[in-house]
Amino acid sequence: MVGLAAAWALSDAGLRPRVVDPGEITDRATWAAGGMLAPMGEAREPGPFLHLALSGLERYPAFVRRLEAASGIGVGLHLDGKLLTATRPDDLRKLEARRDWLLADGHPVEWMDGEDARRLEPSLSPHVRAGLLLEGNGRVHNRDLQRALETAVAVSGVATTRGRVSALRSRGGRVEGVTLRDGRTLDAPVVVLAAGAWSGGIEGLPRPLPVRPVKGQMLAIASPDRPLCRVVTSPDVYLIPREAPEGPQVLVGATSEEAGFDRSLEPRGQAALEDGARDLVPQLGDAPVVERWTGLRPGTPDDLPIVGPDPEVSGLWYLTGHYRNGILLAPATAHLLTEGLTGVASPPAAFRVERFSDPVLVRGSGRS
Ligand code: GLY
Repeated sequence: MVGLAAAWALSDAGLRPRVVDPGEITDRATWAAGGMLAPMGEAREPGPFLHLALSGLERYPAFVRRLEAASGIGVGLHLDGKLLTATRPDDLRKLEARRDWLLADGHPVEWMDGEDARRLEPSLSPHVRAGLLLEGNGRVHNRDLQRALETAVAVSGVATTRGRVSALRSRGGRVEGVTLRDGRTLDAPVVVLAAGAWSGGIEGLPRPLPVRPVKGQMLAIASPDRPLCRVVTSPDVYLIPREAPEGPQVLVGATSEEAGFDRSLEPRGQAALEDGARDLVPQLGDAPVVERWTGLRPGTPDDLPIVGPDPEVSGLWYLTGHYRNGILLAPATAHLLTEGLTGVASPPAAFRVERFSDPVLVRGSGRS
């Protein structure tokens, strides 16, 4: 999604991007995701991540309105909050700490005891002792979003080449284009590297790019009725209500595994997700699991995306490393990229690739 959102934004700004698209939709992190839009739930503390994520969320309603109008595809945006819950004493303390720093930083959150949390979401387990409602956070139907964006990009006239980039071509400190895996070459004065978890493996880059795949396993439970109104999490799982053509579902995510490019399902991770979901919402009982899948998030050492130009090779731009929040951050980072490429403003230093060569700049990102 990140690359397509950027192409759409660049085309809107009067540039003429060409997307090189591997075309395997199920490989995409956006396809595999759950579609949560939750800056206040994902951030660990105030800082650049939270700032970017909030600006991403702010952009979403207008982004979705334009996208739905351009594509004719509804993408199911709901901004009715996300409820974090705690059951164990330790988790309760962590949730209180999150409440405290979010309130101190001025964010709209509401603390609830277990009964209030169950009034909001009646299917929650009686063991839930507290909840923290993150107002204005929400969700989008990620697969419809992916389809809508592909349609909008095609309708806007952006050219697409099917294939996978294997290498960047540059000479004398200037980008010349890319080479594809099948040997074809494309010429371009500017190349934006937005290859998600595969970004670090592109050959010919002027520097090692520290982007690694972080595997996430997920599953979907078909639910006899609609047990949840909004995204609900425990420290073990997040649950996302979804209206599928076959009926209501609850998406359950997600593991975080350092497993290279392995995307296999793994029984222990799947069982932990299922147990976590059924503990938090006992009404799911033995409702059947209707889909299991995995995806690869593009992780970076400080969990922040990489957005901005290469400091040495002119014409090379990075737009990658969005880790757990590609869907949320895509419109915001597409905007940063567009402003950078059109000379309006440079992307903030916190997101630029130079931070990995300057140890002073490598620090915690402020996200969980
Ligand atoms: N956005 C949540 C995840 O990556 O699991």
